[in-house]
Order: sequence, then C-alpha cells, then structure tokens
Amino acid sequence: MKHLIDPTDLTLEETNNIIALAEEIIAHPEYYTARMKGKKLATLFYEPSTRTRLSFTTAMMELGGNVLGFSDPRNSSVSKGETMQDTVRVMGCFADIIAIRHNIEGAPLAAAEVSRVPIINAGDGSHAHPTQTLTDLLTIKREIGHLDNITIGFCGDLRFGRTVHSLIKALARYEGNKVILIAPDDLRLPDYIRNDESLNKKLEFREVQTMEEVMPELDILYMTRVQQERFLDQDEFDRVKDSFVLTLDKLKAAKEKMAVLHPLPRVNEILQEVDSDPRAAYFRQVESGKFVRMALLSRLIDWKNDPSHKLAARDEMDAEDANKYRCTNANCICNREPVRRRIKLHADGTVRCLYCDSKAK
Ligand code: CP
Repeated sequence: MKHLIDPTDLTLEETNNIIALAEEIIAHPEYYTARMKGKKLATLFYEPSTRTRLSFTTAMMELGGNVLGFSDPRNSSVSKGETMQDTVRVMGCFADIIAIRHNIEGAPLAAAEVSRVPIINAGDGSHAHPTQTLTDLLTIKREIGHLDNITIGFCGDLRFGRTVHSLIKALARYEGNKVILIAPDDLRLPDYIRNDESLNKKLEFREVQTMEEVMPELDILYMTRVQQERFLDQDEFDRVKDSFVLTLDKLKAAKEKMAVLHPLPRVNEILQEVDSDPRAAYFRQVESGKFVRMALLSRLIDWKNDPSHKLAARDEMDAEDANKYRCTNANCICNREPVRRRIKLHADGTVRCLYCDSKAK
C-alpha cells in the first residue's frame, strides 16, 4: 500500500501528478465536491497544529468526505496508556486513510507497519514533514512557474526544521537547483542530509552567515523560526537573532519575482511590514496546502489497491544485524514503544536508525 512517510515515498512522477491534480482542483473545484463521498479521514494529532490539521480537515470536507480523530491525545485512550500502533490499528477499523502528527520521530513509519489503510506523515518531531513539502512545491510552482533551476535560501533553524529537511530532499529530484543554507553553527542542517551523496550529486549546496549577502540571487527565500529555546548560550542567540529577521529594508535587494515562503507559525523572523509586499507568499502558501492535500487524499485513496503504487522499499539490515544496534535518539519511536528495530547503512557511510535517521551504535 502507498503511504506518505517521507517525500521520497512518492516517485517524481507521483509528486508531479499530485501537484498537477492540485492545480486542476484550483481551476475547477466544482468537479471535485463529491470525490471523497462516503470516505473518512482520521486525523491523529499528538502534537499541536493549526495549518496541517485544519487544512486536511477542510480538504476532506471540500471533497465531500468526513473527518474524525483527535487534536489532543489526552482526550483519547492514549491517556490510558494505549500505544500509537494500537491506536492506528483501531482507527483503521473506522477510517479509509489516516494523517498522523507526532512529537516522536519515526512514529508515522511505525504506524505504517501495522496499518490497513494509508498513513500520511503530518510531521514527526524534528524529522520530516512531507505534506508541507507538497505544499511548498505547489507554492513555488504557482509563484515562479517551475521547480527546476531555482536558487533557494533556507534561513533560520535548519537543524530542527523538519520542513527544511523534507523540502531539500524533494528539490533534489529536479534539475539544476541550488540550495543556500543560512544558519548559525548550532542550527546547521543535520549531517545525514548535508553529507548525503545522492543529494550532493543533484543539488549545489552553499553555506553563508547572513541573508543579506545572498538576497539578490535568490528565487525563493524560505524563512523558518530561530528557536530561542534551542540555544544553550543566550549571548550566542543575541548575536545571531537579528541576522534572521526579514524586514522590508532587506527585501529591497531581492529580485522583483522572488517569493518569500515560511511554513508558519512565525514569531518575529518576518516583520509584519513585509506582509504587504507582493513577494510575501506565506499566506498564499497556506492556501496551496489545502489544495495539495485535496489532491494527495484523492490519489492515496485511488492508489490504495493499485499494485503499481506501493510504499517505497527501504534498504535496511536484516533483523539479526539490526538487533546489534541501538538508535541514539531518545525521542525516536524505537526507544519509546515496542516496535521492531530497523537499521540502515546510510549514504553518508554511517549506521543510522531507519525511523528517525539518527546515528545508531
Ligand atoms: N506548517 C505547519 O506544519 O503548521 P502547523 O504546525 O500549524 O500545522
């Protein structure tokens, strides 16, 4: 069955197909009002969300389907100790498809292992957020017309920013893209992405300290929140925080057609004065999220019984070898619930956990 756990679970063809369907829905929403009639989406949100949960909800409603689930696990039997995998087994008896957000990394992959319906990763910890990636791709296409030969600057928290991790993987599928990483040392992109050979073959990476020095060359500026709570040293935060605040003055150096994206929520990294600039695309990005999730729900249900659309095979060690390793990430599902151990030899030469990409020892 086709699940969406990581952006690479969709082939390039499937990704483009979903984006094209989203564009078709935007052009002719009236054709799609009964597309999901009789179908039910379960939204299992173990972590707060505004955009992702409610855009999935709206998407299903606009397709004529229904939605059930929880936005706070304390109101479910999770509070009595039910495991995530058991909750998914149960919800598969009620719903045709499940979107799950979890603070624990790897939870959606563990959900897919036991689910009888398609699982959509709606964001797992600091790891991945593939439906935000589809949103970002559709937004980039609508704003600048293409997904190749783009220079994109990722600015802010690239270490814990799951939307950044997933979008970089997706952009590597298209030709000629350049990625400029704008982050303080403590918030650099994780090595498993930065040193991934296959990504480096497709993408040109550069690292800089400020957005000003690259502003004129960007087609997309992808802002993220610098999370003060991640800094151990207040002085260091104070030193970098203003480098990552987008103002109208800084935008003066940007191309006329550049687009500013942000997965949101923002705190103070984009001043409100920027909102009225035509290049501020982050609220249009939210709207794209609804349309792309309408397309995704339609396709995953279309593909449910189609053997040509399966979950991408994962290259991993056999059980005997995997059991010799332990994932070093305390916030990984394999250290939180009784799931089987899954270990891979990563493309950067390190041994890593298949659920969360952290090193395994
Ligand atoms: N972009 C995003 O994931 O926002 P929410 O956390 O509000 O869902």
